[in-house]
Amino acid sequence: MSTPKFAPPKGTRDFLPAEMRVRNHVFSTLREVFEAFGYGELDTPAFENLELLTAKGGATISDEIYSFTDKGGRDLALRFEFTASLARVLASHAELPRPFKRFQIGKVWRYERPQAGRYREFFQADADIIGSHSLECEIELFSLIGTALKRFGLADYTLMVFDRRVLDGLMALAAIDAAKTTDAFRALDKLHKIGKDGVRAEFAERGLPPEGFDTLIGVLDRAEAQSGNAERLGSLLDAFAHANLDDPRGKLATLALTELGQIVAASEANPLLAGRLTIDPTLVRGLDYYTGAVFEAKAQTAAGIGSFAGGGRYNGLVKLFGGADEPAVGFAFGVERLADVLKERQTLSGISSAPADVYVAVVAPEARSFARSVAASLRGHGLRVQVDLTEKGVGKQFQTAEKMGIPHVVPVGPDEAAIGTVDVLPVKTLATGEQRHLSVADLVALVNG
Ligand code: HAM
Repeated sequence: MSTPKFAPPKGTRDFLPAEMRVRNHVFSTLREVFEAFGYGELDTPAFENLELLTAKGGATISDEIYSFTDKGGRDLALRFEFTASLARVLASHAELPRPFKRFQIGKVWRYERPQAGRYREFFQADADIIGSHSLECEIELFSLIGTALKRFGLADYTLMVFDRRVLDGLMALAAIDAAKTTDAFRALDKLHKIGKDGVRAEFAERGLPPEGFDTLIGVLDRAEAQSGNAERLGSLLDAFAHANLDDPRGKLATLALTELGQIVAASEANPLLAGRLTIDPTLVRGLDYYTGAVFEAKAQTAAGIGSFAGGGRYNGLVKLFGGADEPAVGFAFGVERLADVLKERQTLSGISSAPADVYVAVVAPEARSFARSVAASLRGHGLRVQVDLTEKGVGKQFQTAEKMGIPHVVPVGPDEAAIGTVDVLPVKTLATGEQRHLSVADLVALVNG
């Protein structure tokens, strides 16, 4: 094979029809689940004003934005997520009834270093609720995640949860100024990547107090050493109770821990989620706009691809874009990462990657017109049907069907054409070599297994 002159840009890839079958199954299942929970679909432009996307994403994500100046000199950027666009839409549509529940599925772009599970172009499937402070929102979103993953047959995953207000409180415990917390979060976010010593060094580099780091790590270590969620919560609540902080961040953290306990307890009572939630006091999340609960879904994979979904509460973002001061919470699945996990678990192996269920072979030229009507009739019964386009001998047509992985061949010859009805058809199943005559209803049942 010759080397192609062009490859897709680094960090992007082509999806061939067989892979698209799997990806489309993931999309249609997610769409069904979002709709089953009463979320309406929204579409927004692939590019936005750069200013909107950099307003509150944070420095890390700003570095990853694909931005450009258009011919009119406007600074634009490809969206790296849907949250800012959603907040922009809500800021200008006060008339949409709240709580506004919407989903959006589409491509997003990030200039990241490509590696396993990290692409420059990927799909997100995002669901959000705007306009309610209730913890029911978080509980519903977790239930939605559990429902979708059950539909995909994924059993071994973990939903890590925490709360930005608790992290803020921990910063207060560590005597880190509110103005410096974003810096401290950014350093702490790297804990699993660079370890404690690495984070300590980053604290020093960012001018954060070293004793603050020791206090913070002490509390986190004590909480993480507890194996149960209730014990972890207890350990964190204790830390605040004993610290006697006047800083208002301490009070808010205690309230947030109580709320986190309620969300976790309600979700643990959901049979879809029982045993799957973990309170993770090191869960920072990269985006700056989160103000309350944060969460990520993970599954152990050979390639270590990271979380396949992430989200949180981001009250105030709609106001930042000129709308009302309203609460909001949501999350996004990373569709490629989710599909990679499902592929590794082989839970989607039942989905046929073939382009059709049935190949109508034309045994003799005079049967061709009847073959077309057979194909049309089978399509009318919901089957995916190819009819021969090669005009080659019937043996070659069978080979074509086999190469394409099409499981069943219906050979149509002068005998079938003479009868002229599709009540009963000859069917050969290529995998077994079995040949028989079947009614259309039986052929449909055979295909649908
Ligand atoms: P995020 O955690 O940045 O959150 O992205 C959500 C998901 O997108 C991640 O869990 C991951 O599965 C996937 N993802 C992120 N980066 C990449 C990449 N380079 N390649 C492949 N997959 C990736 C957000 O984007 C928030 N807007 C989610 C949200 C919605 N929060 C509230 N509402």
